[in-house]
Amino acid sequence: MTKVPPQSNSDEVRILILSRRGTLYSTRRFTKSALRSGHEVRVLDPLRCHIVIAPGGGTVYIKDRPIETPGVVLPRIGASITEYGLATVMQFEQMGVPVVNPSQAILASRDKLRGLQVLAQNGIDVPRTIMSREVDHLDKILELVGGAPVIVKLLHGTQGVGVMIAHTREALEGLLETLWGLEQDLLVQEYYPEAAGQDLRILVVGSQVVAAMRRVARPGDFRSNIHRGGEGFRVDLPDAYRDLALRAAMVLGLRVAGVDIIESKTGPKVVEVNSSPGFEGLERATGLDIAGAIIDYTVRYAEEVREKKQAA
Ligand SMILES: Nc1ncnc2c1ncn2[C@@H]1O[C@H](COP(=O)(O)OP(=O)(O)O)[C@@H](O)[C@H]1O
Ligand SMILES: [Mg+2]
Repeated sequence: MTKVPPQSNSDEVRILILSRRGTLYSTRRFTKSALRSGHEVRVLDPLRCHIVIAPGGGTVYIKDRPIETPGVVLPRIGASITEYGLATVMQFEQMGVPVVNPSQAILASRDKLRGLQVLAQNGIDVPRTIMSREVDHLDKILELVGGAPVIVKLLHGTQGVGVMIAHTREALEGLLETLWGLEQDLLVQEYYPEAAGQDLRILVVGSQVVAAMRRVARPGDFRSNIHRGGEGFRVDLPDAYRDLALRAAMVLGLRVAGVDIIESKTGPKVVEVNSSPGFEGLERATGLDIAGAIIDYTVRYAEEVREKKQAA
């Protein structure tokens, strides 16, 4: 695993981080990194932006005045504010500001089914997954995902919340009836017992894998998420996994992505691609400066876009 070489300090770039709170670990680390490499950085809560649309275009206001146009936007849009947050991201795109993860890519990856649809369509191996609202066809659903136990996921869950296991047909029936009764759309997915509560989290930045870890679930849980008590360990990634993660991020259009891969008996399966991956656990497990790698890339990306515009 190679550390991304630090940016040779070029012109100062005004970086705008869209994030609910400046005190979040990732946001704090980004701010520190950006300042250290001589850039201007501002953290803005998307919910404090007004989007003003008028004939001929729109802009973003903070309080009562238009925002000073940033050099680049780094969106960190959490699941709780997807819609409003993405409207803000899209407004910056329309204003011609380089945005590290495009709004459309964040949208596709935020929805677990949509993400899997795009991956599968592009020839990337994903778990067998079903979306349905018909309890009458329970036996067929079970058969298609290889029988119990099966995984059930809420479409918009994150950090392991909304990912469940049904050990029997009866448990699955109860779970589906309850969730459908609550108007929740969900996925039924093939369960990989051989993963034994482990998966790989691979961080893609630009066209590189900058870090990876093996996550091991807390005893008694099958979910390896660090937020659920999982533990991260540094791994040396085989090339095949590296390529798979890069392809997964690319087909979704994400420049910064946290790719979750399960090692199944039938080969690696991409279970999910995250558009605002947290990296506290990854920095701890690997000792790498992930925030620095993402900030360096963000600056390079802004410069690339500017050069392309000048050349056009
Ligand atoms: N099909 C599966 N088989 C076995 N374990 C799974 C499966 N899908 C998810 N998991 C476990 O649950 C965790 C959370 O699932 P994931 O789809 O990544 O949702 P979240 O967005 O909540 O992280 C994964 O990191 C993995 O450890
Ligand atoms: Mg995940």
